[in-house]
Amino acid sequence: MKIIVVDNYEELSRTAAEMVAEVVESNPCATLGLATGSTPIGCYEMLAEFCKDKKLSFKNVSAVNLDEYVGLDKKNEQSYAYFMRRELFDRVDIDKNNTHIPNGKASNLLDECSRYSKLLNDTDRDVQILGLGSNGHIGFNEPNTPFDSLTHVVDLAESTIRDNSRLFYDGEQVPRQAITMGIAEIMQAKRVIMLASGLNKAQAVKRMTQGEVSNDCPASILQRHPDCTVIVDKDAASLLKK
Ligand code: GLP
Repeated sequence: MKIIVVDNYEELSRTAAEMVAEVVESNPCATLGLATGSTPIGCYEMLAEFCKDKKLSFKNVSAVNLDEYVGLDKKNEQSYAYFMRRELFDRVDIDKNNTHIPNGKASNLLDECSRYSKLLNDTDRDVQILGLGSNGHIGFNEPNTPFDSLTHVVDLAESTIRDNSRLFYDGEQVPRQAITMGIAEIMQAKRVIMLASGLNKAQAVKRMTQGEVSNDCPASILQRHPDCTVIVDKDAASLLKK
């Protein structure tokens, strides 16, 4: 695990965007594993800038996302499908037919999980971007999710519902369930870029990078990934032992 500590959020976003751009430059048909949440927004903004300036093209790139809320239609502004269009897909030249996200409105959620698992299994992911839950979750794999889990439906932890309520107009509307890529599938990506910013992530960053590998902190499994880079700003790194 390589840890890069940067001064601020802008630098974090630039560092991550440059790494993703390198992946796409070396393989224009790359598959990117993408994350939602507020942390990767700056990275997506810079990727959109690179594309606008014709420095980068997503024309032949595919994308697979980590997760989606159960019960939200892709047209719902709070859905992760909508988020991805707003923050990235509508701003770059990607073919939207090549972008994938679990369907939170599927009539049979178990079938949807199997379909998504198969898609992941059939795709080589060049890089997976991750954010970090304040409780150490990755995707929506909450504490105590088995490390060998595949795509599944999850009951969200109260702390996650609370953390994510800031993104909803009314805290009551935060869905209680989500479909998430499993930890085993996250680990299948050739490369992982984990982003964490702010003091509220400091404890989880310490646990993820310097604690024991244990499923009470799902992100700690990244210590065992052969090519994982953690990019953190000073605040998120503030509890790390030198
Ligand atoms: C959500 C997402 C995660 C994300 C986390 C952190 O729970 N499912 O993939 O990493 O939030 O979000 P933020 O970046 O807003 O702190």
